[in-house]
Amino acid sequence: MAKMEVKTSLLDNMIGVGDMVLLEPLNEETFINNLKKRFDHSEIYTYIGSVVISVNPYRSLPIYSPEKVEDYRNRNFYELSPHIFALSDEAYRSLRDQDKDQCILITGESGAGKTEASKLVMSYVAAVCGKGAEVNQVKEQLLQSNPVLEAFGNAKTVRNDNSSRFGKYMDIEFDFKGDPLGGVISNYLLEKSRVVKQPRGERNFHVFYQLLSGASEELLSKLKLERDFSRYNYLSLDSAKVNGVDDAANFRTVRNAMQIVGFLDHEAESVLEVVAAVLKLGNIEFKPESRVNGLDESKIKDKNELKEICELTGIDQSVLERAFSFRTVEAKQEKVSTTLNVAQAYYARDALAKNLYSRLFSWLVNRINESIKAQTKVRKKVMGVLDIYGFEIFEDNSFEQFIINYCNEKLQQIFIELTLKEEQEEYIREDIEWTHIDYFNNAIICDLIENNTNGILAMLDEECLRPGTVTDETFLEKLNQVCATHQHFESRMSKCSRFLNDTSLPHSCFRIQHYAGKVLYQVEGFVDKNNDLLYRDLSQAMWKASHTLIKSLFPEGNPAKINLKRPPTAGSQFKASVATLMKNLQTKNPNYIRCIKPNDKKAAHIFNEALVCHQIRYLGLLENVRVRRAGYAFRQAYEPCLERYKMLCKQTWPHWKGPARSGVEVLFNDLEIPMEEYSFGRSKIFIRNPRTLFKLEDLRKQRLEDLATLIQKIYRGWKCRTHFLLMKKSQIVIAAWYRRYAQQKRYQQIKSSALVIQSYIRGWKARKILRELKHQKRCQEAVTTIAAYWHGTQVRREYRKFFRANAGKKIYEFTLQRIVQKYFLEMKNKMPSLSPIDKNWPSRPYLFLDSTHKELKRIFHLWRCKKYRDQFTDQQKLIYEEKLEASELFKDKKALYPSSVGQPFQGAYLEINKNPKYKKLKDAIEEKIIIAEVVNKINRANGKSTSRIFLLTNNNLLLADQKSGQIKSEVPLVDVTKVSMSSQNDGFFAVHLKEGSEAASKGDFLFSSDHLIEMATKLYRTTLSQTKQKLNIEISDEFLVQFRQDKVCVKFIQGNQKNGSVPTCKRKNNRLLEVAVP
Ligand SMILES: Nc1ncnc2c1ncn2[C@@H]1O[C@H](COP(=O)(O)OP(=O)(O)OP(=O)(O)O)[C@@H](O)[C@H]1O
Ligand SMILES: [Mg+2]
Repeated sequence: MAKMEVKTSLLDNMIGVGDMVLLEPLNEETFINNLKKRFDHSEIYTYIGSVVISVNPYRSLPIYSPEKVEDYRNRNFYELSPHIFALSDEAYRSLRDQDKDQCILITGESGAGKTEASKLVMSYVAAVCGKGAEVNQVKEQLLQSNPVLEAFGNAKTVRNDNSSRFGKYMDIEFDFKGDPLGGVISNYLLEKSRVVKQPRGERNFHVFYQLLSGASEELLSKLKLERDFSRYNYLSLDSAKVNGVDDAANFRTVRNAMQIVGFLDHEAESVLEVVAAVLKLGNIEFKPESRVNGLDESKIKDKNELKEICELTGIDQSVLERAFSFRTVEAKQEKVSTTLNVAQAYYARDALAKNLYSRLFSWLVNRINESIKAQTKVRKKVMGVLDIYGFEIFEDNSFEQFIINYCNEKLQQIFIELTLKEEQEEYIREDIEWTHIDYFNNAIICDLIENNTNGILAMLDEECLRPGTVTDETFLEKLNQVCATHQHFESRMSKCSRFLNDTSLPHSCFRIQHYAGKVLYQVEGFVDKNNDLLYRDLSQAMWKASHTLIKSLFPEGNPAKINLKRPPTAGSQFKASVATLMKNLQTKNPNYIRCIKPNDKKAAHIFNEALVCHQIRYLGLLENVRVRRAGYAFRQAYEPCLERYKMLCKQTWPHWKGPARSGVEVLFNDLEIPMEEYSFGRSKIFIRNPRTLFKLEDLRKQRLEDLATLIQKIYRGWKCRTHFLLMKKSQIVIAAWYRRYAQQKRYQQIKSSALVIQSYIRGWKARKILRELKHQKRCQEAVTTIAAYWHGTQVRREYRKFFRANAGKKIYEFTLQRIVQKYFLEMKNKMPSLSPIDKNWPSRPYLFLDSTHKELKRIFHLWRCKKYRDQFTDQQKLIYEEKLEASELFKDKKALYPSSVGQPFQGAYLEINKNPKYKKLKDAIEEKIIIAEVVNKINRANGKSTSRIFLLTNNNLLLADQKSGQIKSEVPLVDVTKVSMSSQNDGFFAVHLKEGSEAASKGDFLFSSDHLIEMATKLYRTTLSQTKQKLNIEISDEFLVQFRQDKVCVKFIQGNQKNGSVPTCKRKNNRLLEVAVP
């Protein structure tokens, strides 16, 4: 955010008046009072227009901080309270922006603060101008040149502990952007007499004390010096130490500054060697010695010091010794050597010391200039800072004071000229009528001093150059003649009768009425000092030094360049350099700082009015104000004026739309300020009387208060309103929040109540359900229990009777199991053989296993039968099949059967094949013979039996004669219908034939055979296989047979044993045939 620009003015919060132009009434008293008032309030700066008056505060004030620099930077001159920074800023900005070279002229008496002021200006400019490595180095070098020059050119005086004993003008050079490029320093007339002698209470130049205090032992011994000040005649002892000054520390500062400025180490060393040589020169002492020719002569007392000086400077000792003893005067090829008496020797020594030192100082300035000179050739803008010794009135004023005061006179003149000129120019610029101003012009005094024909300096030069005896008295006489009628020259001896009886004016003096007061000058020393003589022998001795710096300081000592012309006198030199300076200053825009010393005690807070009054007078400050106020006391550009006072008129407040000038016109008309009190310039309003301005200021103050009240009122109203609105808003917010909170709370309460109720209801419901469920459960449980009990009861009731038996059963079952187990295990070991006919079977161990035992026996038997059967061949199988068939057919039916079981069925009992008798029979039978046996055929008629061969083939039943083997009958098996037999133990059987068949013609056959069972069985089987019809086998003790046409009953009866065991058959009648079976 851009910083809000606050329009301020010099007139704000003023203590007294910030600008003396506004002083009303204007006189010496009010002027001093204003200064004092401001001084008492630590306001040490006051303006006279653009001139700054600075009163030395003798204490450090907090008004030079970097913040202050920022405050004054780029602000208008009258915007803030008076300050040296405002002047510096104005000068720097008009240099940078308007391309005007500037000079800052700082005047004031010794101790008034000129040097401090010049340093403040420089540091301000350094702070606000460009930045960058190179620029900073230049700045640093410029600033650091000060400590070096102060060490060599400043000294403690009774007036000032750091009094500048030379005049200094420094040009700071800038480029078009306002960045510093470098600088040039000019020095004016160093007070060299101080080197050899200091007034009471004063010191030699600082550097001597700094060197002795601050140098290391090593450096001291190198320079052949001792630390003790008292060892050196040139150092006054009474005030060698200055309060609050640390010489040793300052020495280090100076050496450091020298380094920064660019002195090489050997250069700095050379400089210190020269300083040491000067110090030691003072210790050379002379004693008188009378020569034979009666002339006074001097001799060096102790040559040790001389020896050391020579060692230090590399001068031949004898050369220097001779230079202190003789003086050679050369004139037109003549060389005259005269001896020096003691006084002359001392004079020569001191002259050498003074010259050595002052030339060293000039060399230093040049060396610094070399370092700080601008490196570029581009056009430079220049700001000159002049810090020259101020106007001095001592008890004893000599040549130096005369020169210094002349310089101040010149400065005053240029001040008057430039101020008036500027004032006049402004009036012309602003088109204001110029009114003449009465002021004292000191040109007349300058003329008295510098006039080339009869000026004091010219007279002095004339005297010095005049052949013959020249003394200060002859010079005064001359003055008395030439200047007697001058208004500003006073002398007792002059022809002017005015001063004949003036006892305040001694005979050996003259008095000049300077612009700043009358000064009485002692004429003594004027000639000598103006001559500034150094015997040629000495300069030549110096030139012979091997020390390059010293050699370069005395170029006139070079014999090859002997110049018999006298060097210019000190006065004329100074006059010339002042003239150059004045010329230089006139080309630049001047800025004045006029320093005032408030007291003689170097003390803070003391304001000696008489002392200040004196300074105000000689500085011509009142005149300055008068000139400034000539016609018009105050002027101000229209814009700031309107800006400042616009609130005093309704038309211009708060904003004036038109041009500022018409705004001011309207304003002044409205305020009814008399027309004669002001004038309108081109860009400024000119106010004749400060009263008018103060009236304006008062009105403004009043109005500001009203406005402040108004602003306050509005502000308060606004504040209250915003506060109220805020409160209201807050109240609404709070209310809203509270309502929300309350509702929330209520809702939460309701919610929690609802929850409670809900939970109660739910609980109640749940409990109810639970109760019901529990009840149901209990009911179920009860039912179950009851049922269980009931069932239990029932079951118990039902099974109660079995309970013991049950146990018994279990035991029984178990026992049974064990017994059965045991039984089976025993049975295993007792198994009979695998033969199916083996009837053995272990005895039954338990009765209850009877059936099992039988079953087991049966199973075992079946099993072993199976086993047995499995061994059979097909043949055997067939045999057994037949046996089985026989068993099925006859077992338990026929008593004969059991005896047949053990007989194997052979079939072919009769071997037809082998017996040749039956060959015919055999050939007649093609089929397989199943049975070939001899049977008894029962004769149907009588029952007698005949043997016949019985043959059974697959299809036929053949009967053949046993003896012949002739086939008697052949019956196809299909014609056989039935076989009948008895149930008894006999071998009779009948073969029934189909009625009507061929074979049946004779009727059925009745046979008896031993192998009845076999034969019946085979017949049955063969018939079955051939005809697929079961042959009917009838077992009965009575059956019918067909004999021819008769049906005969065959009846079996019990026979007696007498007929043997063979059954007998007998036909009883045609209807009965009886068979008796034994
Ligand atoms: N603005 C200031 N603030 C604080 N002290 C100051 C100020 N100006 C001067 N002084 C004090 O006054 C003393 C003398 O000031 P300064 O050396 O500037 O005087 P001068 O005018 O140069 O004297 P001379 O003519 O003898 O050289 C300084 O050493 C310092 O102590
Ligand atoms: Mg000074």
